[in-house]
Amino acid sequence: MMLPATEIAPSILAADFSRLGEEIAAVERGGARILHVDVMDGRFVPNISIGVPVVSSLRKATTLILDVHLMIEEPGRYVGAFADAGADMISVHQEATPHLDRVLAAIQERDIEAGVVLNPATPVATLSEVLSVVDFVLVMSVNPGYGGQKFISGSLEKLRQLKELRSRYNHTYRIEVDGGLGLDNVADAVRAGAEIIVAGTSVFHTSDPAEAVRRMRQVASEALAQKV
Ligand code: DX5
Ligand code: ZN
Repeated sequence: MMLPATEIAPSILAADFSRLGEEIAAVERGGARILHVDVMDGRFVPNISIGVPVVSSLRKATTLILDVHLMIEEPGRYVGAFADAGADMISVHQEATPHLDRVLAAIQERDIEAGVVLNPATPVATLSEVLSVVDFVLVMSVNPGYGGQKFISGSLEKLRQLKELRSRYNHTYRIEVDGGLGLDNVADAVRAGAEIIVAGTSVFHTSDPAEAVRRMRQVASEALAQKV
């Protein structure tokens, strides 16, 4: 399998929403191809963030890949709406639905990449029946709900397991990691197997988000080069 180069996916949760268009233009200049969009319902996670109308507006404002991370109860009820709004990737939490297989199929039926997300306390083993189906797996390296939290280093082991399972069983999913990532730990995450690195605070809470993406991409690609 041809492994894609590492992608940095800036999380707009940390952006200045009053200047969202400019913030997106900046990360695009820095080389981002994916924009990570955190949807929170105040039930599955304690916080409320953004919903379908914002994804529709983003779709009009950018050609970047929209990676919609649903941190909501009953995600199956909203897949259609986010698909119509213009999502390119949609991920749902393993913990949020007893009908994971059905929800993943509903996403893929709409020609959207389907991902499954694991909270820090949820083992990789819970995904055994869907790893052959999903387009990507997202490992939470913080407890979902807020930006700006500290990276939980135990998630590196999960990234390694996912990489190992993929090669053992010839799966094709990509591996994404989300939470507490920055210049200090992006190399570890990439070496452990992450191919899509979500970064909010470390990109947008800087004076130059374009440069922040560039530097993270550079550190990630150096780590990838050393790995072999
Ligand atoms: C957390 C969200 C993350 C968050 C990452 O619930 O899923 O995507 O925005 O933010 P940082 O990079 O600041 O940890
Ligand atoms: Zn996220």
